[in-house]
Amino acid sequence: MPAIDLFRLDNKIALVSGASRGIGEAIAVGLAEQGAHVIVSSRKQEGCEAVAQAIRDNGGQATAMAAHAGDLEAIDGLFAAIQDQFGGLDILVNCGGTNPYFGPVAETPMSAFDKTLEVNFRGPFYMSEKAVAIMKERGGGTILNVASIDGISAGTFQGVYSTTKAAMISMTQAFALENGAHGIRVNALCPGLTETKFTTVFMEQEGYADTVAHLPLKKAAKPLDMVGASLLMVSDAGACMTGQTLVIDSGSLIAHGL
Ligand SMILES: NC(=O)c1ccc[n+]([C@@H]2O[C@H](COP(=O)([O-])OP(=O)(O)OC[C@H]3O[C@@H](n4cnc5c(N)ncnc54)[C@H](OP(=O)(O)O)[C@@H]3O)[C@@H](O)[C@H]2O)c1
Repeated sequence: MPAIDLFRLDNKIALVSGASRGIGEAIAVGLAEQGAHVIVSSRKQEGCEAVAQAIRDNGGQATAMAAHAGDLEAIDGLFAAIQDQFGGLDILVNCGGTNPYFGPVAETPMSAFDKTLEVNFRGPFYMSEKAVAIMKERGGGTILNVASIDGISAGTFQGVYSTTKAAMISMTQAFALENGAHGIRVNALCPGLTETKFTTVFMEQEGYADTVAHLPLKKAAKPLDMVGASLLMVSDAGACMTGQTLVIDSGSLIAHGL
């Protein structure tokens, strides 16, 4: 088989959370281009449906299914619907994320703490539990957790967000360690600065151009820049890769000596 075919995902069922825009949307489109049937998920059905429709218009297969990553009952409902409609799941991409508080870590409001943990960590953890149960029955599968370089080196004024992303990296290792024997691989993607709605607040700040100029590659990433690495980790191209974190950050961490 030509090596490039190892990236194909024909006949695979893939769930992507946070797929209504930004990095998740780009990953969902990329998986569909490789042949997967993609379940496009986020809180709002309308945004999911728009992405799913665009994938279908482009000749791919996609279904929109909204679910709040912080709501365990909604996640139960999502997985029940997937089992019902598709009979299983081969790929889970945990990409939905939030960062409601930007400020001193020692003054983090507990409401922001709870929300950040629920959406960025508890939801993806619970989704991984549900996915592993299905994948075990199927004889294997892959999970990709979209963490962040802030999980490797905490971002200033992003304390609780960084903490959840570090937890996600640890969770990646824990799930990989215990489920490899079932043919389940689990890896993490750590994006650096990527231009999406999530980073609009930074992009509008006065020092943004300087921040970008200090990156070794002199450019922030676009969502599409996250797709190649994601395809590697969820496909047979990464067949012997598990428990790893892949950093795509325009060189940000090495610029800080990390
Ligand atoms: N952009 C960056 O520089 C950067 C860097 C490192 C890591 N990341 C990570 O990459 C992931 C995607 O971020 P992005 O930059 O693509 O942001 P984005 O464009 O704002 O997209 C965020 C996605 O998450 C969904 N979402 C938000 N809250 C949710 C919830 N409670 N339940 C389910 N879905 C939810 C949003 O859809 P709804 O609003 O419809 O729910 C949307 O689809 C996040 O986990 C983020 O932490 C981003």
